[in-house]
Amino acid sequence: MSQPIDSTKPSRDRPIASTDAFSLEGRVILVTGASSGIGAATAQLCAQLGARLVINGRDQDRLSAVHAALAGKDHTAIAGDLSRAETREALMEASPGYDGLASCAGIAALVPLRMANEAHLEKMLSVNYLAPILLTQRLLYKKRIRNGASLVYVTALSANAAPQAAAGYAASKAALEAASRTLALEQAKLRIRSNCVAPGYVETPMLQGLGALAGMDDKIDLTPLGRLVPADIASSICYLLSDASRWITRTTLTVDGGLGIPMRT
Ligand SMILES: NC(=O)c1ccc[n+]([C@@H]2O[C@H](COP(=O)([O-])OP(=O)(O)OC[C@H]3O[C@@H](n4cnc5c(N)ncnc54)[C@H](OP(=O)(O)O)[C@@H]3O)[C@@H](O)[C@H]2O)c1
Repeated sequence: MSQPIDSTKPSRDRPIASTDAFSLEGRVILVTGASSGIGAATAQLCAQLGARLVINGRDQDRLSAVHAALAGKDHTAIAGDLSRAETREALMEASPGYDGLASCAGIAALVPLRMANEAHLEKMLSVNYLAPILLTQRLLYKKRIRNGASLVYVTALSANAAPQAAAGYAASKAALEAASRTLALEQAKLRIRSNCVAPGYVETPMLQGLGALAGMDDKIDLTPLGRLVPADIASSICYLLSDASRWITRTTLTVDGGLGIPMRT
């Protein structure tokens, strides 16, 4: 005789028809790039949804300001450069186990390929690909990623769109997307999910820096739904961190206001 289903207890075998599925209550989540832009907005939303956070960025003052404004308590801020092993080690030691990773840290620079020297290409790969993957590798190796956890990597629309002057940047984000898909296969037996969020143009200090250099306003204004702000990306990241997306793994969620869809005007 079959057992009655207790719908109050979520499990992999039963649907979760509840707003609780979007909650991050009781989760411990590591957010990188939390001192600015998309990462700061993600940290704020994760905390509002009930998570306890470990946050990272390089700028101590901006990271402390984000930390001080987080909802809830018992959050930890660790400043440091993620391309350095000691920073990754400190983040690994900051919690006995993580239920989620929101990997938002990244850098961007527009350089035509004929002008892109080795240092530029190495820097893009080092910060945008190697740092998050080496961090993940260390967390997995030391068993700091709990069964059922969700890993979310912020990549970029340009990983696939590959616009001009973005060979270094786009390739580093494409590499991250490929690694995430591999990771999702390797960790599926522990129900650890791995996904990417690929933003289009988002109003952040990074975009302001690029725009000031390259006069990008015309390109940004091509976004059919208008200008995105960091909170728009944070909500997609939090969806992927939550049980509401528990059957979603090995994918990239594009959040670009329709920019990447070819259009005829
Ligand atoms: N804004 C866009 O239009 C856009 C579009 C597509 C993808 N993205 C991606 O979205 C993510 C967030 O970008 P954003 O626009 O929010 O940029 P942002 O405001 O410049 O924030 C970047 C964050 O990454 C951190 N970071 C950079 N290098 C680091 C390193 N070596 N070690 C540790 N932290 C480091 C920064 O720390 P400090 O500031 O403290 O140094 C900052 O917290 C990036 O991965 C970016 O590639 C952005």
